[in-house]
Amino acid sequence: MKINKRLKAICDLVPENSKVIDIGADHALVDIYLNKIKNCDCLATDISPNAIKRAKINIDKNEANVKTKVIDGLPELKDEIIIISGMGAKTMLKILHSQITNDLILSPNNNVHLVRKAMRKKGYHIEKELLVKENHYYVITYYKFGKHKRTDDIVSPFLKNNIPYMRKLLNYYQIKSINERKLLQKLKYKHIVKKIKRTIQ
Ligand SMILES: C[S@@+](CC[C@H](N)C(=O)[O-])C[C@H]1O[C@@H](n2cnc3c(N)ncnc32)[C@H](O)[C@@H]1O
Repeated sequence: MKINKRLKAICDLVPENSKVIDIGADHALVDIYLNKIKNCDCLATDISPNAIKRAKINIDKNEANVKTKVIDGLPELKDEIIIISGMGAKTMLKILHSQITNDLILSPNNNVHLVRKAMRKKGYHIEKELLVKENHYYVITYYKFGKHKRTDDIVSPFLKNNIPYMRKLLNYYQIKSINERKLLQKLKYKHIVKKIKRTIQ
């Protein structure tokens, strides 16, 4: 099954056989992929009945086993991994207003720093983070509740000027320049670098 690089990166962060709730699933392609390829148990939700109609068509077309639900924000949760991607940070944080402890995969379309700050305040740490280029650069972050020493955070090394780690990441993401400012510009962080510096210790 073919999905774009951004959606594939989201799926790459999900372990096989996971229980997943995708909030604002729209087309539900992430859920279809996770169900078919990684044997995940997925619930695709959206505030829009039309989006869920579209999702159901895609699910049937791909013969996937994905549940759907029209709902504004979070449904009742157990221990599922929650995915929220492709929407603005403010909408995302509204959805996450209650205190929860589920693992989260978040990829806001803008204001990544607002999400980082809010998640730290809620007691989450970054477990792993991916950067994907598809017209724009997208940051996709796996958050876990509680404190943890090890993080795989793509932004902090640049801010801390950790050259060896920066080189490793630039190689990994096939970015040729090691110029921090250029990369931050590409990430659309230029105007928020100061805020990021405040939000990342
Ligand atoms: C641009 S789509 C993103 C689809 C997919 N997650 C992705 O990353 O490609 C954003 C979706 O979020 C949904 N949405 C916006 N606010 C929501 C809310 N409060 N609760 C659930 N879904 C919401 C919209 O209806 C829309 O289908």
